[in-house]
Amino acid sequence: MTMHESTRMMVDHLTGALAARGVAVERFDLTTVDIGELAMSLVDAATVVIGTPTVLTGPHPLAAYAAFLANALKPKAKWATVIGSYGWAGKAVEKLAEMLPNLKVELLGPVLCKGMPRDDDYAALDVLAGAIAAKHAGLASR
Ligand SMILES: Cc1cc2nc3c(=O)[nH]c(=O)nc-3n(C[C@H](O)[C@H](O)[C@H](O)COP(=O)(O)O)c2cc1C
Repeated sequence: MTMHESTRMMVDHLTGALAARGVAVERFDLTTVDIGELAMSLVDAATVVIGTPTVLTGPHPLAAYAAFLANALKPKAKWATVIGSYGWAGKAVEKLAEMLPNLKVELLGPVLCKGMPRDDDYAALDVLAGAIAAKHAGLASR
């Protein structure tokens, strides 16, 4: 979800960067999601990326809801991270990580941008996409 579109722009970019690297992406808009579909996708995902703006120093409530669901489902995901936008400061990543004690995942470097994403934020998302693609390639060869 997104209030001023920055998080959506980041999710759009990461989705494209992952697809360009051959990583299959299932993307859910948490404002309209069918939680049954989200749950099915979570169970199978190798990597979970939560996109959220910072709201009242933490994740948006809908991202917290998705994290609660993910933690309850205990998916077998191996990697997780957070991307999103903030205005001044916050602890969205730390708070989301605290909400996922059941996930035995390696946390990949989050990408948070201040306000609207700029070139260096898109570059950081490309690095993240490359890291996810490399992790998944390792999975396939095992
Ligand atoms: C109700 C509300 C609360 C917010 N609280 C915070 C906050 O605690 N810390 C912060 O850095 N930004 C806060 N922001 C600013 C947003 O995180 C910032 O505008 C961000 O770029 C929005 O991302 P979006 O374009 O994806 O909606 C808040 C914005 C709103 C509307």
